[in-house]
Amino acid sequence: MLRINNLYAGYDKLQILFDLNIEAPGKGITVIVGPNGAGKTTLLCSIMGIAKVFSGEILYEDLPIKGELTHNLARKGISYVPQMGNVFAELSVMDNLKMAGYLMPGEEAKIKAESMTDIFPVLKKFINRKAGTLSGGERRMLAIAMGLMKNPKLMLLDELSTDLAPIIAEKVMMEVSRLRDELGITILMVEQMAKRALEIGDTAYLMVSGEVRFTGKADDLLHETELCSMYLGIKPEEQDIASIEESSLEGSE
Ligand SMILES: Nc1ncnc2c1ncn2[C@@H]1O[C@H](COP(=O)(O)OP(=O)(O)OP(=O)(O)O)[C@@H](O)[C@H]1O
Ligand SMILES: [Mg+2]
Repeated sequence: MLRINNLYAGYDKLQILFDLNIEAPGKGITVIVGPNGAGKTTLLCSIMGIAKVFSGEILYEDLPIKGELTHNLARKGISYVPQMGNVFAELSVMDNLKMAGYLMPGEEAKIKAESMTDIFPVLKKFINRKAGTLSGGERRMLAIAMGLMKNPKLMLLDELSTDLAPIIAEKVMMEVSRLRDELGITILMVEQMAKRALEIGDTAYLMVSGEVRFTGKADDLLHETELCSMYLGIKPEEQDIASIEESSLEGSE
């Protein structure tokens, strides 16, 4: 669905990304992990036409999208949920949703916004409250729902779990797998909560200092002990638990 070939990108004259080759296959979850400052957000910004692409190709459904304006990308079915500040605090939850559906006629946006409460029942309770009064987890659900308002085929999600308590972050992760499993949406997701993201992900890339250091199955990256402990803060004992759980599952089949 999305393919990035030999991408060099950054800001003004500052080069941040070097020769990235990344693919997000249709209806799968592709996870980008890596330490702070690795260039993960810059990658998403390059796709969305926010950062500067120096060279390379960005193909969406086999057509080049490099240099296209953000609202054109939204029309084509690409939805971006940024890392921070992604809801309008002074507006109600309903108005945030309607705002996100600005590409649709008013009545259609309203119906679509109401349908979001079927996908995220938690939003129903808060539909008339100001978004600024929501908890971190509720706000993240609203941000995903706002991304869904545009009927995306591809969603770019930047660190949805940041600053959330582990149990709430887990809920958000489960919602992301539902987007793939129930709505068939292709996901390209940047995550700090690397272990959990790799568990729900299909394909994974490890980025370090603007370069890709690992490309492969998400599960395979989870078993790369050295890379996991050096760059992702996943300790070997946690990996052991993952392997033990896996082998006991295999044994029970
Ligand atoms: N607008 C900008 N202008 C100049 N440099 C920037 C800009 N935005 C980010 N950078 C720099 O680009 C580098 C990569 O930043 P980026 O935000 O892409 O990293 P990241 O992998 O998303 O990190 P984090 O995990 O902390 O979110 C950093 O050195 C950062 O300071
Ligand atoms: Mg970032």
